[in-house]
Amino acid sequence: MYLVTGATGIIGRPLIEALLSEGAEVRAVTRDPATAAFPAGVEAVAPESIRSALRGVRGLFVHPRAAKDDTDKLVQLAAEAGVPKLVVMSAINVDDPLDHQPSRRNGDRNAEVERAVIDSGLPWIAVRPSSFAMNTLAMWRGQLAFGDTVRGPYGGFTEAVIHERDVADMIARALLDDSLLGRKIAITGPEPLSLEAMVPIIGEAIGRPLRFQEVPAELAAQGMIRNGLDEGFVQALMARYRRELDQPATVTTEIETILGRPARPFATWAADHAGAWA
Ligand SMILES: NC(=O)c1ccc[n+]([C@@H]2O[C@H](COP(=O)([O-])OP(=O)(O)OC[C@H]3O[C@@H](n4cnc5c(N)ncnc54)[C@H](OP(=O)(O)O)[C@@H]3O)[C@@H](O)[C@H]2O)c1
Repeated sequence: MYLVTGATGIIGRPLIEALLSEGAEVRAVTRDPATAAFPAGVEAVAPESIRSALRGVRGLFVHPRAAKDDTDKLVQLAAEAGVPKLVVMSAINVDDPLDHQPSRRNGDRNAEVERAVIDSGLPWIAVRPSSFAMNTLAMWRGQLAFGDTVRGPYGGFTEAVIHERDVADMIARALLDDSLLGRKIAITGPEPLSLEAMVPIIGEAIGRPLRFQEVPAELAAQGMIRNGLDEGFVQALMARYRRELDQPATVTTEIETILGRPARPFATWAADHAGAWA
């Protein structure tokens, strides 16, 4: 039995599928078990029932957004229940200075959650993904409802964005495979892609002639804030773009080495989510 926190999220749902496809049994934590609609056979549990849900568990996935301030308590309960392994997700930038991690401005605490797991005294594995390809939907879907042009800053900024299924497959492998114990595994997509190169790849997947048009960073930042993004987050994001604009994006080969097949390209992600842009 494996216990998955953050189970209804971007990583949680494909992680459940990956575990089920390996024949594993899954309990899944959600604040709303009644509406979670997990696959057949998956036990949905509320955070309040976590103590009993940890009984008989062979591996616990600690999701940083779901566990966050409760991580110390969660790992303590896991230790009391005799859980033999914790797998935590953080992020590829988790060792960077904290003010260089824009997601902190939205409340994420990847560094603290990962640290709590590593310091728990239980066997652990940390999976550190690069930016999710899924972010492009949040960034660009609104604009693409009105035309074929994405206007944004720093079109030349490159990232090796990762498919959420690759993140999920790696976490599943970490839960199921003890040879990875004690490792901090940085995972990325297969190749660096600039923001302006990603847009036509999405266009290819959805049959539209999409293009990226660069706009000045200050103008773009004002628009993001007007659209409801936190100002501190937007400024931290712009600072990251500026800082890393001329640096090559990090690409690792861990997906291929550990999972024995290449990381999914961005074009695959775009095809898998072609229906989401409508
Ligand atoms: N986006 C990226 O590019 C990227 C890259 C690397 C690392 N990360 C890190 O990955 C994490 C986000 O992962 P994700 O996209 O899988 O998360 P997510 O889908 O936003 O959230 C996962 C689940 O956590 C629960 N949850 C959300 N907010 C919560 C809260 N405030 N308190 C308690 N439970 C909450 C929700 O489940 P219920 O409502 O069912 O309880 C949600 O479905 C962050 O820590 C982020 O920094 C993100």
